[in-house]
Amino acid sequence: EKGGHEYFMLKEIEEQPDALANTLRGHFVGGRIVLDEQRLSDQDLRDVDKVFVVACGSAYHSGLVAKYAIEHWTRLPVEVELASEFRYRDPVLDRDTLVVAVSQSGETADTLEAVRHARAQKARVLAVCNTNGAQIPRESDAVLYTHAGPEIGVASTKAFLAQIAANYLVGLALAQARGTKYPDEVAREFHELEAMPKAVQQVLGTVEQVRALGRELADSKAVLFLGRHVGYPVALEGALKLKELAYMHAEGFAAGELKHGPIALIEEGLPVVVVMPSPKGRAVLHSKLVSNISEIQARGARTIVIAEEGDETVRPFADHLIEVPAVSTLLQPLVSTVPLQVLAAEIARSRGYDVDKPRNLAKSVTVE
Ligand code: M6R
Repeated sequence: EKGGHEYFMLKEIEEQPDALANTLRGHFVGGRIVLDEQRLSDQDLRDVDKVFVVACGSAYHSGLVAKYAIEHWTRLPVEVELASEFRYRDPVLDRDTLVVAVSQSGETADTLEAVRHARAQKARVLAVCNTNGAQIPRESDAVLYTHAGPEIGVASTKAFLAQIAANYLVGLALAQARGTKYPDEVAREFHELEAMPKAVQQVLGTVEQVRALGRELADSKAVLFLGRHVGYPVALEGALKLKELAYMHAEGFAAGELKHGPIALIEEGLPVVVVMPSPKGRAVLHSKLVSNISEIQARGARTIVIAEEGDETVRPFADHLIEVPAVSTLLQPLVSTVPLQVLAAEIARSRGYDVDKPRNLAKSVTVE
């Protein structure tokens, strides 16, 4: 049932192209984005003046990724908040606030309570969920299902990628309703998303390379992850995977914060994973990261660089280079996260841990 794999997580990592394709299917009809159980009218979407994404763990990271896209496409302010913090701090909500509750299981207690709090304040709630008929979608105004299929591994992989895609559909639906994107622009963004399963399939070609690297890093004390822009939540996700599976100290940082403290952690041989943006995208982002890598390499870090194929500028600074296909900036998390999932799983396996059932964790956290 693990499809010939040693652990479910690897099977689920390999199912990611299908998870994306299935999540996108049926959501672009007659030239328009359509959501699932659309109990929010176009007028409701037009009235939205602020968006919150509330979630926990990896789902929260999917929200951090979405913020870049939704703000860019809709010009609406987007706040992304841990569900457990949101409900205890009296957030400013009213009927023109859209709260997007992201949850693979649809049963996470913190997220469910955040949904209840938002609805009590008259905010509109849209659930992004992987489980049909779960409690969170049942208590929401509208639902967009991710179709990643059941996820057995406690560490989220295919559900995470599907959440990013679904959050993007929410952003495009808002942009369409508000008219902040022309129909042909919405169509172009959707078609780029539709091309992602193929790009993720290509990244899966790096699995054996990354597993070998994982075996080399198995005895490390800690690993740091750096990224900028959408690469920053990818760094957070890579660190979370490593903590939960390999019980290794791991931190994700915004690369621009390095000199504000974390650079003091860099010492000889410390593995640092850097998520590079495309050299063809925002040039300034790329050059800033190149200078960050050169700084940490000069201080003796072992640099592991996830970069777009053909990006020659990073080569001199990469002790280990993992190449991912060229995709537009906002879609990069869908390819750059994949090697980080494999890395964490393989480090954990090399250390003798059960990759599918890490200690102290449950697949669905139904207590606050
Ligand atoms: O079912 P949910 O998406 O609501 O779960 C949220 C988190 O508990 C979950 O993403 C958790 O962080 C995973 N173990 C991460 O791999």
